[in-house]
Formats: sequence, structure tokens, C-alpha cells
Amino acid sequence: MMKNDICNCGAIALDENSKLVIDRVAEVAGYLWQKNWAERNGGNISVNLYDNIFYFTGTGQRMRDVAKSPLDFGAIIKVCDDWTNFEYVSEKHIKPTSELPSHLAIHKCLRDRGMRNTVVVHTHPNELIAISHLEKFLDADVLTKTLWSMIPESRIIVPKGVGVVSYHVPGSLELATATIEQLATHDVILWEKHGVLAVGNDVVECFDAIDTLVKCTQIYLFAKMAGGEPQGLNDEQLEELAVKFNL
Ligand code: 13P
Ligand code: ZN
Repeated sequence: MMKNDICNCGAIALDENSKLVIDRVAEVAGYLWQKNWAERNGGNISVNLYDNIFYFTGTGQRMRDVAKSPLDFGAIIKVCDDWTNFEYVSEKHIKPTSELPSHLAIHKCLRDRGMRNTVVVHTHPNELIAISHLEKFLDADVLTKTLWSMIPESRIIVPKGVGVVSYHVPGSLELATATIEQLATHDVILWEKHGVLAVGNDVVECFDAIDTLVKCTQIYLFAKMAGGEPQGLNDEQLEELAVKFNL
């Protein structure tokens, strides 16, 4: 069956690639839960499967349930040309995440930049949220340099560093607009006192970027707990990495 053929049930039959992509969403949803970043319904994931067809995790749904059965706790939707309205194409009509306006605005922005198969991952990592309560880390340059300087891999895995968006109500248009501004220069954004959002075209790579940044934050905090201000890699060492890896 072609990817856009209609089943008897009214749902679109998924092509093999879309099934694989949704399996990877389930894999990452499991990681988010195991990492302790996904309390109750914390976080959400959306992926562009093809054309204007997207998979979205459902609002109020638990990542640990998405991990087990993504199509029972999320929906496949066809987004209208206005990038706001949608119709269901999955059999189950699970209401998409409350962050749908930001996710759709982000997917549109990335598509306008020529990206395809776009992914948005939003989650609530404790360590990154904790440091977003400290004023000095609301400066994206300070935050990025601090995290990059904890381990060399972070300079390579998150080459654009971390953007910062000040606090806005979850799911609001203000949050979406501020996030899109930051996406001009970053692929990972810290939402003050809320969580983190990563974009890309592979859901596992979005997870990897967040995971690496969380590790850097943990190392920073462990060093502080060990009794002092961590030295960090110096500017020369960071520049050496940028040159060696063409960053
Ligand atoms: P949803 O359950 O609507 O996806 O909301 C979770 C969340 O993290 C909001 O920012
Ligand atoms: Zn959230």
C-alpha cells in the first residue's frame, strides 16, 4: 500500500520508514522516563513523517506509556496549510501535546530553512532546570561556555551551544515566538524554570544532545560540590577543538 493510501478504518497506512521513525520516538520516550526527566506527563515529542503528516505525543500522556505503545498515547495528524489546524489520520484521536503551537511553529520555521524530517523533543532534565534558576546561566554565552568547557565532546556534539528563553507560560504563543528567535542560532534551547527543547532531523540525536548537556551540567555541579569553581577547558582548548573538528 502506498504511504498515502486510505485504510478501511479511515486511517493512513504507515510506510516502513514512518514505522521506524515512530519506533525511535518510543525508544527515546523510554530514555526520557529512565533518565528521570519525564515526571507524570512531562515533556513531548513531535516528528514530521513526510509531507504534512506528523506524529505527536498526546497531551497529558506519560512518556513511559509512549515508550510502550506510541500510537495509543500519541496521534498521527495531517497539518493544514495554515500550520495551525489539523485533522487526524491515525485511528485513535489522542489530543496532541499542549505545546502543539510551539512545535508546529518550529517545524514550519525549520522547513522554511530547507530542513526535512524535522524533530522537536521537549523534556524536563533536573540539572538543567536547576541551573536555569541561577541568574548568571540565563545568559546563553555564559551557559554555553560553562557547559562546553566541562568535557570536550560537548563542543563537538552541541556545536551551536545552548540558547536561553526566559520564562513564559507552557504552551503559550510567547514561548513559541521566543523559542523560534533562539532557533536562528541554536539547536538546543533552555526554557527558564521549565525544561529544554532540541530540534534536528533525528530523534535519537536530539536526545543525545540533551543527554550530553545534562552530563556537562552534572560535572559542573559535582565539581562545585567537591569544593570549588571548576576550572573548565580554557579558550585555547575550546578553539583547538573548533579548528580540529571544523565547528
Ligand atoms: P503535554 O502533556 O501537554 O505534552 O505537556 C507537557 C509539558 O511538558 C508541557 O510543557
Ligand atoms: Zn514542559
